[in-house]
Amino acid sequence: MRSGRYKGEKSMEKKKFYLTTPIYYPSDKLHIGHTYCTVATDAIARYKRLAGYDVMFLTGTDEHGQKIEDKAKEAGVTPQEFVDRIVDGENGIRDLWKLMNISNDRFIRTTDDYHVAAIQKIFKKMYDNGDIYKGTYKGKYCKPCESFWTESQLVDGKCPDCGREVQDAEEEAYFFRLSKYADRIRDLLENTDFLQPRSRVHEMVKNFIDPGLEDLCVSRTSFSWGVPVDFDPGHVVYVWVDALFNYATAMGYQNDRYHDYEHYWPADVHIVGKEIVRFHSIIWPAMLMSVGEPLPKHVFGHGWLLLDGGKMSKSKGNVVDPYILADKFGVDALRFFLMRTFPFGSDGNFSNELLIQTINTDLANDLGNLVSRTTAMVGKYFGGKLPAGCRTWDAPEAFDTELISMARALRGAYEEQMESFAPHKALDEIFKVIQRANKYIDECAPWVLAKDMEANGARLAHVLYNLLETARICGILLSPFMPESCEKLFAQIGADETVRTWDSAAAWGSLSETATVTKGENLFPRIDMDKALAELEELEAAARKAAAGNTVEVEPQLTEKVDFDTFCKNDFRAVKVKACEAVKKSDKLLKFTLDDGTGTDRQILSGVHKFYEPEQLVGKTLVAIVNLPPRKMMGLESNGMLISAVHKENGEEKLHLIMVDDSIPAGAKLC
Ligand code: MSP
Repeated sequence: MRSGRYKGEKSMEKKKFYLTTPIYYPSDKLHIGHTYCTVATDAIARYKRLAGYDVMFLTGTDEHGQKIEDKAKEAGVTPQEFVDRIVDGENGIRDLWKLMNISNDRFIRTTDDYHVAAIQKIFKKMYDNGDIYKGTYKGKYCKPCESFWTESQLVDGKCPDCGREVQDAEEEAYFFRLSKYADRIRDLLENTDFLQPRSRVHEMVKNFIDPGLEDLCVSRTSFSWGVPVDFDPGHVVYVWVDALFNYATAMGYQNDRYHDYEHYWPADVHIVGKEIVRFHSIIWPAMLMSVGEPLPKHVFGHGWLLLDGGKMSKSKGNVVDPYILADKFGVDALRFFLMRTFPFGSDGNFSNELLIQTINTDLANDLGNLVSRTTAMVGKYFGGKLPAGCRTWDAPEAFDTELISMARALRGAYEEQMESFAPHKALDEIFKVIQRANKYIDECAPWVLAKDMEANGARLAHVLYNLLETARICGILLSPFMPESCEKLFAQIGADETVRTWDSAAAWGSLSETATVTKGENLFPRIDMDKALAELEELEAAARKAAAGNTVEVEPQLTEKVDFDTFCKNDFRAVKVKACEAVKKSDKLLKFTLDDGTGTDRQILSGVHKFYEPEQLVGKTLVAIVNLPPRKMMGLESNGMLISAVHKENGEEKLHLIMVDDSIPAGAKLC
């Protein structure tokens, strides 16, 4: 199998490594699924840095498109204000990555000026080379996914990605000649290692290449929140064209904001979720071919974190909040859990039980015990410093040899798994060694050796040195997953900077024999499952309530103008409620008898019973429009309408009759 390189790519191998996460939609707060994707990429980035690469790790936000425009409208703010709040606001996307200790080198927002200008140039370039042409788009559009579909691609008439309703769409649009690149894309997918895991290749070829690649609609005219096509006002660039090129513009492609494109491009890997593999493995390489740029080396499509077997989504109300989990269990434990539990290329079922179980088994029992038992024994038997000479032992036992050889081989096994984007398997390798080390403690029974220090002190020191060395090597290789906890581990076992390196992870015996060992805080305390589950439930319920409390929806303002004279024709008056009663056989209607200042009672029927009991309203001064034509409701005449303020709270309708100061006389005109 060929490597994923395409013609034109630099052949000289530099020790650079450029990797990316997808850029996230700032349409809602991010959940644990997004966190999974970013933590995985971060672990790989940290591993590559550890292994001596010049790493560029990019993440960011994908801020254009109809979905954002609609959400902003609903929230009554501009799209820019809307995305600013979700990206940079409190507990926003940047805050989340800071909390999760994400080590990205750069953060791109697609609303950044340099990116917008670059996208315009790129679009024009593809237009000029004939790969973008104008036509009419007729087909289906899935708004939440920002995806165009042909009839044949729909599944049961619904979006094949998210299963939601699609809309008919017909508009003048620009198209990208995706069909022209079909053969080259097939070759790339089938005959190179560009797309991983391999199972995704089959999906792409069967679902998209075999049925025939159609040209792709790459501009929209029905909304405006996007990069304007500068040579054709009214068109905005399709959000995926805008989004995919972020990987290049963030390095300086077609702009002067950055100057690393030559150095870092092509990307070594784009880590993406499975539902966006299509964009990254078909559309993205085709567009790069069109503009004559080298292709990324790999796209890796990971699986989804599911909840109760289904995809998490805000609309289903089943998202898991990473803030709550990180706060409750610690950032490193959460990072570790995500990487340890779910095979990276497949879907996995998230649950709080599984999270707690993993922390207790792997971190508290296996790793935590190894470190705390070892450091405690070095403290207890040797005052925190082993004697010189403890590194070697003339007549090693079989279990000494086994432990040492496993620890020596660990870096190689780990590297192999990390290089194949299998962080869960790399962790497996580490835990085999940790478990072996714990067994070694039992086999050596240091507490028995300690009974006769004169006879067995040297042997005991050697056993403890072996354990410290094992912990050190495991700590180095775990550090991409749990950076802060591993720092603490190193401090406890007395491993200074020089023996925390990649090279030293393969060099058994690097730790100084007389390193100062301190039994510090317990790295991973055991969690009481029942108590933690109950607390989590409470926290999650409180968060849901707080989030729901914020959803106040008001109707969008009308854009159509009313001239002043027309407005003045509406006769609004203060009216006093003389009597009020429920209308028989109606759940909604109240019948009001009103003093409108004319001397004759006015009767108005109003559908406000859901919000008021009649006796609450008697004596109140309300506002009515009095020159509407009479209307019959439930056989009763209504002469006018009471004015109220309406909105939705947590999706529920709310209504307040407008009540004015009782000192205002009945009949006073409102103008
Ligand atoms: N904006 C696009 C990406 C453009 S990249 C040029 C997008 N954004 S997203 O916010 O909807 O999703 C970002 C990433 O989060 C995707 O890779 C997606 O698969 C991942 N995840 C979202 N929910 C997820 C899970 N429940 N589980 C795992 N990953 C999930 O798509």
